[in-house]
Amino acid sequence: MASPPLPPTAKIFCPNSTSHTSTATFNPLFPKKSRRPSLATNPKQGFVCKATKNNDQNHDCMGKLDRRNMLIGLGAGGLYGTAGLETNPFAFAAPVPPPDLATCGPADKPDGTIIDCCPPNTTTIIDFKLPDPGPIRTRPAAQNVAKDLLYLAKYKEAVELVRVLPEDDPRSLAQQAMVHCSYCDGGYPMAGFSDLEIQVHFCWLFYPWHRWYLYFHEKIMGKLIDDPTFALPFWNWDAPAGMYIPSIFTDPTSSLYDQYRNAAHQPPKILDLNYGGTDDDTDDKTRIKENLTTMYQQMISKATSHHLFFGEPYRAGDDPNPGAGNIESIPHNNIHLWTGDPTQTNGEDMGTFCSAGRDPIFYSHHSNVDRMWSLYKARGGTDITKTDWLDTGFLFYNENKNLVRVKVRDSLDESKRGYKYQDVDIPWLKSKPTARKSKNKRKAAVSSAQLTSKFPATLSETISVEVARPSAAKRTAAEKAKEEEVLVISGIEFAGSGMLKVDVYVNDDADVVSGKDKAEFARSFVHVPHRANKKLKTTLRLGITNLLTDLGAEEDSSVVVTLVPKFGKTPITKGGFFFFLEHNWFG
Ligand code: C2O
Repeated sequence: MASPPLPPTAKIFCPNSTSHTSTATFNPLFPKKSRRPSLATNPKQGFVCKATKNNDQNHDCMGKLDRRNMLIGLGAGGLYGTAGLETNPFAFAAPVPPPDLATCGPADKPDGTIIDCCPPNTTTIIDFKLPDPGPIRTRPAAQNVAKDLLYLAKYKEAVELVRVLPEDDPRSLAQQAMVHCSYCDGGYPMAGFSDLEIQVHFCWLFYPWHRWYLYFHEKIMGKLIDDPTFALPFWNWDAPAGMYIPSIFTDPTSSLYDQYRNAAHQPPKILDLNYGGTDDDTDDKTRIKENLTTMYQQMISKATSHHLFFGEPYRAGDDPNPGAGNIESIPHNNIHLWTGDPTQTNGEDMGTFCSAGRDPIFYSHHSNVDRMWSLYKARGGTDITKTDWLDTGFLFYNENKNLVRVKVRDSLDESKRGYKYQDVDIPWLKSKPTARKSKNKRKAAVSSAQLTSKFPATLSETISVEVARPSAAKRTAAEKAKEEEVLVISGIEFAGSGMLKVDVYVNDDADVVSGKDKAEFARSFVHVPHRANKKLKTTLRLGITNLLTDLGAEEDSSVVVTLVPKFGKTPITKGGFFFFLEHNWFG
């Protein structure tokens, strides 16, 4: 059916309208807690409460922030394009402070097991100083070092050495894995906000935190083998040459091996960058094409704004998980799920955050994630310039077992920290998706019965919703380059302990959705299990400017969005998933 009339009860709001309807209904299952302390009681937090632009927005400068109105506020500012995020009238300026190791507490696994991931504590903290970079370390593609026996011997030795260090040595692989666990599974309360945890995923800290984490891991290994030029290999999963578990990790006699990986995903099984818990019989050629298209979409089509690339702002006093950036969401999360062992209770090792760092492949996976940041910038992408990102602090143990305080701002330039990536082919640069349908048929085939208008909705099967666009006027290329149109699915609530993926299609047929290499596929929401007994709440934002152009829908007043939930097979999947959707376009 072509562009059905808007159901009268559909709750859609639009940035350019002056009145709007909220769909963020209070949900008694997950009561909201306002945890921002008042300025009066926390003078040292340095909050800057910016003036609100709209008087009707319920914003209390002294600390109470109504998240429903925050979302509306973003949408109602009359802004179109992600530039609007920069002018969020509710922005507080305090960056997330580094954790206080003395307050580190138990973390949890998805199955409810409580674990102690806390690092050894020390009161001496050194502030990181950019070193003399010395010889540039070049991180090689993992598939290219399989025959480089000298490199391989060093790398194996380095991993062997971190494996045999005593467990309480902060340089040991066990402790390195715990660093990830405590920052990702509830180990650290946020300083000044004792009932908030620090979480470095699903937000704009994802890239810089992991860059620092790899930096120290690599330095530790280099020092142990007495080779300051040692550099981690990257898992080149964005190119066909690297779209399988690199062979250096699959020799059971090597220190690089981890037995807790999916047995069905050993080479030559091609990696599925859209993996959602189950294998299908897609042939290799199609899979590679889908993967390359996925990379094109995540890195080119949708990386026009740095907020979509990095993820959503996350500042002192914020609830965790405001929203992941493109690559964190896909394929980073999918590769975790694809690699972990589904016969383990929590998909260990790679399939859940608390154990991911026990598998040496984790650090190569993240080297490639980090490489995407470098490629994004090499192609003209910009870093965030706000101080509440730049001044965010973290603590890591360095190669000398000293505790070091680092800031995001010192992570931006890899060359200053002495490393770069081997130049390899980037075939996804040319892998633009094509529309499934011919131009004159590019409308969603969705019956009125399939259209949902009641929100929040529990997503147990495919649903479609018609979403009004902020403007149906044709935009120039310059306007599009400046302002991304963003599909927002907010209020996504789900059990953190379960694996979850929701595919999102625009103007597609609800009964038989298109393939993963088609322009209609706007990508997915993907969750890697972590945390027990905890409902997580987040927002998915998909840049769709190019998608609308590809589908010839630029001048339509609405689009039809179809959501297809995929749940992993037991035992990874646990608990129920509840979705509370709002939909909106905003910048
Ligand atoms: Cu911190 Cu790949 O996750």
